[in-house]
Amino acid sequence: MERLDKYLSNAGIGTRKEVKEYVRSGLVTVDQNIAKDPGMKVDGRKNEVCFKGEKVFSYSPTYILLNKPAGCVSATEDSRERTVLDVLSEAGLDPIPKGLFPVGRLDKDTTGLLLLTDDGEFAHELLSPKKHVDKVYHVTVDTPLSENEKMIFNNGIVLSDFTCLPAKLDILSEYEAKITIREGKFHQVKRMFMALGHTVTSLKRLRMGEFTLPDDLPEGRFVRLDMECHDHEKKII
Ligand code: URA
Repeated sequence: MERLDKYLSNAGIGTRKEVKEYVRSGLVTVDQNIAKDPGMKVDGRKNEVCFKGEKVFSYSPTYILLNKPAGCVSATEDSRERTVLDVLSEAGLDPIPKGLFPVGRLDKDTTGLLLLTDDGEFAHELLSPKKHVDKVYHVTVDTPLSENEKMIFNNGIVLSDFTCLPAKLDILSEYEAKITIREGKFHQVKRMFMALGHTVTSLKRLRMGEFTLPDDLPEGRFVRLDMECHDHEKKII
């Protein structure tokens, strides 16, 4: 859902100020009713918005939060593997919006929060290395964790090709932890634990920036996120 004035201005009908005037002058209808409030919420997929009797088509970006199951790849197409778009399709997303892509990658065996969008600017805000967006993972490992490893993570683990930014380790039990990292290099969490002699036996992403995996969202299911844009900052509404 988005504001009617935003929908109209995105469609090129006029500036925000102009379209507000058009609405107040009764030139805009939503589902055949004259719109009175430029701030009313419309959904371009469900409502018919007309300006001077002509249907207005506007681009409404899509934001999806998927609880990724294991066994699928974070790609839009793959000749051999099941992709996260296949998962969305099986979960009932129909049609799959053109241009939808995963915001970053989770490994094939990693589960949990994966965002998908067709909004490149939004993806860039979350993925840009300069932004240091927090990602929180639940991890299980094959050998016991020890308290002193918290400090090692916090000091920045040294891998063969780079030194990781400080990461926060919360030990939940002997073989289980939450880890918060602020970057997202290839296999990063697995490599960090491997550097301390632990093999990761399961990995699930719980949070990415302000987006949290809902407790009641089963693996393989998704929710659509409604966003509103305030001066380039996207907020969940
Ligand atoms: N780190 C990993 O090692 N794998 C993932 O899927 C995500 C983060």
